[in-house]
Amino acid sequence: YEIYLNGLVGTPPPYSTSVAELERVARERLDPGPYWYVAGSAGTGATERANREAFDRRRIVPRMLRDVPVRDLGVELFGRTYPAPLALAPIGVQSIVHPDGELATARAAASLGIPTVLSTAASHTLEEVAEADGPRWYQLYWPHDDDVTLSLLDRAAKNGYDTLVVTLDTWTLAWRPHDLDHAYLPFLRGTGLAIPLSDPVFRAKLARPVEEDLDAAIMQWVPMFNGRPHTWDRLALLRDNWDGPIVLKGIQHVDDALRAADAGMDGVVVSNHGGRQIDGATASLDALPAIAAAVGDRLTVLFDSGIRTGSDIVKALALGARAVLLGRPYVWGLAAGGEEGVRHVVRGLLAELDLTLGLAGYSRLADLDPSALEEP
Ligand code: FNR
Repeated sequence: YEIYLNGLVGTPPPYSTSVAELERVARERLDPGPYWYVAGSAGTGATERANREAFDRRRIVPRMLRDVPVRDLGVELFGRTYPAPLALAPIGVQSIVHPDGELATARAAASLGIPTVLSTAASHTLEEVAEADGPRWYQLYWPHDDDVTLSLLDRAAKNGYDTLVVTLDTWTLAWRPHDLDHAYLPFLRGTGLAIPLSDPVFRAKLARPVEEDLDAAIMQWVPMFNGRPHTWDRLALLRDNWDGPIVLKGIQHVDDALRAADAGMDGVVVSNHGGRQIDGATASLDALPAIAAAVGDRLTVLFDSGIRTGSDIVKALALGARAVLLGRPYVWGLAAGGEEGVRHVVRGLLAELDLTLGLAGYSRLADLDPSALEEP
């Protein structure tokens, strides 16, 4: 309403309320390497387009004359109540779009009370980002060295990250033509290595200190987490060494979701990494309904890949997600205006969610189910 009221007196918002327009501004400002690292996806972009097409194919059927004066966007996730069904997805190397990177993102999330999910590929350390002191989850790129894994978990727990998100779909980087064409893999050049490079257990394994030989440190880290997947039996290591909830990110198949429940996991993120891993993979939204139906109350089902608007959130929740992760849109906000830009994008999205929910005739998120949408 603030934006509407200011609009009435002729004051436009500081940044566009359109994600597409923010992306256009970011494209103008950023070098092609960083821009395409964020905007790009795997192969021909077929999965990224499919993610959006799956949203566009589904439509909300509004209901009238229902009493929806105040909408309640609150949601409970893993025993904790949040003001909105939204977390900021783990996105690595954010300093390539803004010097404050993950610090700005965490501060914006903290000011709104929503969780930020800190990536293992972040450009700031776990300890620095914790200072924003908002709800925080930690995303693990899972090393094959158990000592390092346990050290990362220990640091996360000590610094107040209460939920562990284990990303399974990126055990090796996919074929990403834009990054290859720009010779742009900042992660491999060290920008996204703040967390491992600051890790005491990892550092102790190096023949020479990081400060003396960065290249050697990078060459030791990359094969440690990249190149081959873990297997289901290995989840016991994480379960035994993490007291809080564990969420598996990158689930697209019903059987994998059921197996996550069997392995004692608490949740899944139905995600295809925003179409950045397999070109031609199923749209994440198309994978959601069957997974949500199959796991029922056994797991908390979260969703990402393609969320751009408030109405997208309504659709994902109607199809069984308890909450969603926001990806690229907040990075465009970060590029436009740092912490302020991220807050602007999230507040706009939540305002749109609130309006869409009310206009569709719902006052509570929990009342959304597939009947809120047209038959596919
Ligand atoms: C990502 N994503 C990601 N996921 C993760 O678990 N760890 C990471 O470090 C990253 N890094 C990352 C960088 C960039 C630039 C992007 C765009 C994405 C995936 C992210 O968490 C999420 O799954 C997708 O962004 C969702 O897709 P959309 O909504 O951005 O299309």
